[in-house]
Amino acid sequence: MIEFQHVSFAYEKGRPVLEDISFAIGRGEAVGLIGANGAGKSTVMKLLLGLLTPGEGKILVDGEEVNKQSLAHIRRKLGFVLQNSDNQMFMPTVYEDMIFAPLNYGLSREEAEARVDAVLARLGLTELKHRHNHRISGGEKRMAAIATILAMEPEAILMDEPSAALDPYNRRVVINTIRELTQTKLITSHDLDMILDTCERVILLSDGHIAADGKTESILHDQNLLEAHRMELPFRYAR
Ligand SMILES: Nc1ncnc2c1ncn2[C@@H]1O[C@H](COP(=O)(O)OP(=O)(O)OP(=O)(O)O)[C@@H](O)[C@H]1O
Ligand SMILES: [Mg+2]
Repeated sequence: MIEFQHVSFAYEKGRPVLEDISFAIGRGEAVGLIGANGAGKSTVMKLLLGLLTPGEGKILVDGEEVNKQSLAHIRRKLGFVLQNSDNQMFMPTVYEDMIFAPLNYGLSREEAEARVDAVLARLGLTELKHRHNHRISGGEKRMAAIATILAMEPEAILMDEPSAALDPYNRRVVINTIRELTQTKLITSHDLDMILDTCERVILLSDGHIAADGKTESILHDQNLLEAHRMELPFRYAR
């Protein structure tokens, strides 16, 4: 569903952020993308969404290369929550933001509204429905951004730090919701306990390279590996 083939990227000449990155994520797989601050996780997400263009290599979504021509078509398949979800809301209210994509995809207003209401109920956010996006809290915005992509029912879900800014209750709601989703998922987080609960596979990025790619439990149990890349064991495994 998602494939990086020998992708390199630099924001500034001579300062590569990603070097020769290759991985493939199968349909329905749930993958955690982890790594220290500045490792390049958000850059991977932005490349996948066509917000950045690789210097070298290819990125494929569902067999189609991400480029200017394919971008609109590919974006319809991807629901994403960026690290800074503030920039993601473009309608005045939570409801208008959430219903925008379903209406655009040709659902009737009744069908689209039913979908929006179901997602809000599932996330316990019904009270946010008619609130103004710029008058809700940081954590509420994050929840609203997650609700918006769930209402899109995309083929793949990309989440950059979904649990950041969430209180423990909402964090748990989000974890449970992610677990129930059957779509392909790529999730970045420093919340390794959340990654343990939501992803069967982990890709560890470090210094522009993939330092490890494998089963979540084995990578997140490997204290030496994690510490070598400026990370720590998940709380669950720490003594
Ligand atoms: N717009 C930009 N211009 C120049 N350098 C950038 C830009 N955005 C990010 N970088 C640099 O690219 C590297 C990777 O950044 P990126 O945001 O992908 O890291 P990250 O793994 O998502 O980190 P974090 O855990 O802090 O979110 C960092 O060294 C960062 O300083
Ligand atoms: Mg980031």
